[in-house]
Amino acid sequence: MDIPVPPLPDSSRISDTGRLEVAGCDIVELAREFGTPLFVYDESQIRERCRAYMAAFSSRTDDFEIVYASKAFSCVAICQLMVQEGMSLDVASGGELFTALSAWFPPEKIYLHGNANTRDELHRAVRNEVGAVVLDSLDEMAVLDEVAREQGRRQRVLLRITPGIEAHTHDYIHTGKLDSKFGVCLAEGVALETVGQVLKAEHLELTGFHAHIGSQIFSLEPYRKTVAAMAGFMADCRRKYGFDCRVLDVGGGLGVAYTEEDEPASVDDLAEMIVAAARSEMSRVDLPMPRLIVEPGRSIVAGAGLTAYEIETVKTIPGVRTYVAVNGGMSDNLRPMLYGASYRALIADRPGADPTVTAAVAGKHCESGDILVKEAPLPDPCPGDILVTPATGAYGYSMANNYNGQPRPAVLFVTNGKARVVIRRESCEDMVRLHERLE
Ligand code: LLP
Repeated sequence: MDIPVPPLPDSSRISDTGRLEVAGCDIVELAREFGTPLFVYDESQIRERCRAYMAAFSSRTDDFEIVYASKAFSCVAICQLMVQEGMSLDVASGGELFTALSAWFPPEKIYLHGNANTRDELHRAVRNEVGAVVLDSLDEMAVLDEVAREQGRRQRVLLRITPGIEAHTHDYIHTGKLDSKFGVCLAEGVALETVGQVLKAEHLELTGFHAHIGSQIFSLEPYRKTVAAMAGFMADCRRKYGFDCRVLDVGGGLGVAYTEEDEPASVDDLAEMIVAAARSEMSRVDLPMPRLIVEPGRSIVAGAGLTAYEIETVKTIPGVRTYVAVNGGMSDNLRPMLYGASYRALIADRPGADPTVTAAVAGKHCESGDILVKEAPLPDPCPGDILVTPATGAYGYSMANNYNGQPRPAVLFVTNGKARVVIRRESCEDMVRLHERLE
């Protein structure tokens, strides 16, 4: 029987007992055993998404790298999984770098990003011999050059360019436009001038350029425009400095379906757009094909994950609304509050049952805006039921917080009927561990 609420992991089904099952695991039983709120990832689906990227690019070009943007969901286990799948890794801070190194991620396949890395973070990146630092500014360049000199190393770098491309996504996750805190802009010759400075830095080796235009992108046309803009820029750099750009990183951003209304492009279509655009644009400006890099985060993990909550209270305001309140909320999923993101909800105890009420799924936090799903059709929701929000695998746990003293949830990987804890549930003791007493 089909489950009426997409988009659950592909392995989801209704079990013989009528409950939601993912990768052979009964979600209600997992909730009982491991507690709620609980993040559950279908491990095979994450692997399949990595393989889809690998296959899509390897069938079109020999020189490419798929870099998982670990900000979407970072933990030791997923870094290990990424090594197994042949992926590289984007880390956005010293903390994500530490997580990757704790998983023995090969440092030469790590890219450090960030618009405000501290000297200490840059030190750690150079000391651990990361593959490349993606330079965001001249200020960062100056510090990194010094840090590399102090350590007697020459650090490979890419330069992050803001190409001024409209990506048609939420303003908060739109990074490629001119007015952005990220990167150096193509406009007014700023990027060209910056390249001259980077090429002069004695302890840095510039290998290419990076441009990430935004996130949750549905139309592929902005990628073509980005490649075209970057090709023109690469040609300018060769003309002005004789610089041969060997690497072109076009960032991440492929959109995913949070509801049945979202229709994202496929990984294959993305690869076709990027590789074909690179071929035609490079031949237009008479440059060899660079190594192509993409940095998907969301499109690798979002759909493989879901969150299970317990319903605590159900309240109906006559003639107004029914609120179904769960034991999590903006501490484990900030996306509805930050971006107005839409999610669906279902009851894992009876996913096939017909809805009896359209309710707002509210979180437990002291904010009226703590609403996870504005309008969820649910079958007779009751306290004690396990409510699931699908497609929470990206930027859910990674943006989780302790608001209202809420410990962060546990995270499970499920596969072939087996569940493994990959992040233990935080305890109240964990939360006060760093607090110091007066006296
Ligand atoms: N590369 C760079 C340099 C990035 O800044 C990002 C995301 C990615 C790759 C991966 O993008 P993805 O494939 O995941 O779209 N918290 C927001 C998303 C912020 C994205 C930040 N950068 C959200 O929940 O929608």
